[in-house]
Amino acid sequence: MQVQTDNLSPEEEIKRICREVVARVRPDEAERREVKALTEFVIARLNEKAEEQGVEARAISVGSTARNTWVSGEADLDIFILFPPDLSEEDLKEQGLALAKSVVSGRYEERYASHPYIHAYLGAHEVDLVPCFAVKDAASLKSAVDRTPFHNEYVAERVRGLEEEVLLLKRFLKCRGIYGSEQRRKGFSGYLCELLILKYSSFVGLLKNASRWRFGERIEIEGRGKYKDRDRNKEKEKDALVVIDPVDPNRNVAAVVSLDSFCRLIDAARDFLACPDASFFSLPSEAPAKAKAKAKAKEEREMSRAEFLKCVEERGTEFVMVLFEAPAVVEDVLFPQLRKAEASVARLLQREEFEVFRSDISVAVSAAGEKAFLVFELLVWQLPRVKKHLGPPVTSKHHAEQFKKKYIKLRIENGRYVVEVPRKYTDAVELLKNELGSCGLGKDVRGAVERGYEVLRNEEIKFFPGVGSFFKKYFG
Ligand code: CTP
Ligand code: MN
Repeated sequence: MQVQTDNLSPEEEIKRICREVVARVRPDEAERREVKALTEFVIARLNEKAEEQGVEARAISVGSTARNTWVSGEADLDIFILFPPDLSEEDLKEQGLALAKSVVSGRYEERYASHPYIHAYLGAHEVDLVPCFAVKDAASLKSAVDRTPFHNEYVAERVRGLEEEVLLLKRFLKCRGIYGSEQRRKGFSGYLCELLILKYSSFVGLLKNASRWRFGERIEIEGRGKYKDRDRNKEKEKDALVVIDPVDPNRNVAAVVSLDSFCRLIDAARDFLACPDASFFSLPSEAPAKAKAKAKAKEEREMSRAEFLKCVEERGTEFVMVLFEAPAVVEDVLFPQLRKAEASVARLLQREEFEVFRSDISVAVSAAGEKAFLVFELLVWQLPRVKKHLGPPVTSKHHAEQFKKKYIKLRIENGRYVVEVPRKYTDAVELLKNELGSCGLGKDVRGAVERGYEVLRNEEIKFFPGVGSFFKKYFG
């Protein structure tokens, strides 16, 4: 549909775009009814079974489907099963999983992130059945998920009337690749989106504020946050965004939002407000809106080997891929380990004077199973045999004497002794083939690497499905 937009003011244009997007992403009456019916069905079954099994438990609906804030076609049911808080963790796990399994008839998986739960497939929908403790308030939680029922209560009664604003925000973030708090993405969770809308009352209100956010922005809805933005780990990574959890003032709901996700929102908010356009709400995969065969469009999106090699040639850099079998752990465990490995290998390369231009990580499925890989783009990948080794300042008498005992041919440069030594590795690939084990790798990645890995350069890089789209995004 072509709409005459020439004489609309920017505000009116934004309103028009938002109306159009809402019409696409808001679940219609039929979808809402279907989701509600399915939710009620599962909850009733859980409660019945609990009674039958003599288990003291009560099921409730939480998450976006409980608050009418799910994006049309993406309804995953989040059902929590509350157990008495005096139950042991073992009993919670055992009774919770048994109860959950007793109501699912089709395909399901047992999942463990920090907490055991059942992920089931019910018709067109996916359902999380999550056992938790019915603690008396969110600050006295016993397991990681005990806050969720409190989130639900808090948001459900406040978000009424603002659902469409939440949907706009979720869609906007999804199209920037920053919706979701998984470790792979480190973006904005559904709950965080709802809180941001509660704070700023509308999607556009949020964008206006976000366009002026500063690093470490702190948002309190209830105005009683005790959360201190401390160094969360040794790398002194401060939170880019702090949103105090209204049900637990000790928690930052935005703790997982990475600096880059934070900045992507700020940047997109400014761009959209300056030049509002409907394309902000379409996914790259949907760009050729009327492409006939979706599968074909998908194929076209993957970068081919030849295209990759052409890019490499033009850039004049060297790509090195470290490839190994992905360890069998959930993504939220795997991705932080891959990032740790990436940083550690980059430091090794730099230490040996190979210049890293850029790097990234991912996982993809090859014919031989799921593979994980680290990619380094290098400005310098081959070095001469000779290497400069810096000694102590000449004025440090003791150290100078020690150094002179060890080396014969020294020179003085800028007040320090310098010797020339032969370099052990003149090629970055050789270095990684031999010394990868000396890098700080996470526990599971180390295990996988010890079982074997390949170090591949440019034309050796294997293009199994997923690698092409990785590079497509990389060269973006
Ligand atoms: N939750 C949380 N912290 C997370 C993930 C989830 O506290 N990192 C809680 C929230 O209370 C959330 C609920 O679990 O509302 C369900 O999580 P999820 O399905 O991931 O989010 P939704 O809010 O349901 O959003 P979506 O529409 O994407 O399903
Ligand atoms: Mn959900």
